[in-house]
Amino acid sequence: MIGKDKKKYLIEKYKSKSLYFDQFMEESLYSKYGFFNNEKTRSKKTGDFLTSPEVSEYFGNLIENWIEVNNIRGTLLELGSGTGSLIKNFTDEKKSRLLAVERSATARKELQNLGIQIVDSPSKLKNQTIDLIFGNEILDNIPCSIAIYKNNKWFEKGVDISNENFRYELLSIRDKNKKWLTSNNISGCEEFEIEVQTNIQEFIIKLIKNFQPNNFMFFDYGYFQKERINKKYTSLLRTYKNHHLAGDPILNFGEVDITYDINFSALQNLFIKYGYKASIITQKKFLESCGAVTLLKTLKNLKNSSEGLEQLKLQDKILGLETILNLNGLGGFYVLNAKKV
Ligand SMILES: C[S@@+](CC[C@H](N)C(=O)[O-])C[C@H]1O[C@@H](n2cnc3c(N)ncnc32)[C@H](O)[C@@H]1O
Repeated sequence: MIGKDKKKYLIEKYKSKSLYFDQFMEESLYSKYGFFNNEKTRSKKTGDFLTSPEVSEYFGNLIENWIEVNNIRGTLLELGSGTGSLIKNFTDEKKSRLLAVERSATARKELQNLGIQIVDSPSKLKNQTIDLIFGNEILDNIPCSIAIYKNNKWFEKGVDISNENFRYELLSIRDKNKKWLTSNNISGCEEFEIEVQTNIQEFIIKLIKNFQPNNFMFFDYGYFQKERINKKYTSLLRTYKNHHLAGDPILNFGEVDITYDINFSALQNLFIKYGYKASIITQKKFLESCGAVTLLKTLKNLKNSSEGLEQLKLQDKILGLETILNLNGLGGFYVLNAKKV
């Protein structure tokens, strides 16, 4: 059952008994009752989920290598920095040209001692030209809408908030979401719900218009459109709490992380449309191209020639690195790199 104050807050804000799913997700994650604005930082061991930079310090180091090799000399902007684990070991030279955008007030507190400018929204960074915008597992936390195909017609999933228990309902589909489906050649199928990623699209278009970045780099879980049919799940939306899959988001308003698989084909189409060359590879392949194989060999040799505590520490580092390379886990994530042409 939803608390009275939360329900009142939603009804007063939206002046309606119905929310579209993306509005519900927005409130559930980022409002004053939201999952990311509560007392604990979510993306760490004591939180609710672990990400690549939290698992291995080498994730950030390898990305730094990539920045060097690609001769990216201008301003760097990280989106959704969380605890700052990806950027905290960057060299001082890189930190001096680094900015961070983080929506969660709780996470922003953790970032304060990094000595870099941190804002809650890209709109606070006016008149900047940026060389690289990057982020790990941020896109999957940008609220999605959900399209449902029934009786040869598209609808949107809505949340009826008028009763003590929230429940799902079907609403007419908004034009922008129908357009997203059509422009990405997604045809209706009653067996699947579609996570419509229009809000990601709008977010990226704003970044392109405001900062004309030369490069983008996003790490996330996801799929190519042609693979969707082989995924057995009706929905690719999930919730997490305390490092475990959690229940239905409408039963847990503000209590769980809500996330979904990124449609990398749609993302690639978007960047191409805006004049970028966009390539997508697995995280394993990407990290290997940044020196992960040599690094792993070096760590293993060091471990073999050490003993005691030092050896245990090295074993831990090796395990972390192997985890972010594992194709059945974090290594199987995709990395999208878009370069302005
Ligand atoms: C899954 S966590 C990942 C944190 C970190 N990148 C990591 O890999 O550990 C996603 C983070 O993105 C932030 N976030 C989501 N949408 C955002 C937005 N539009 N702008 C900035 N930060 C955002 C959330 O507050 C959250 O801290």
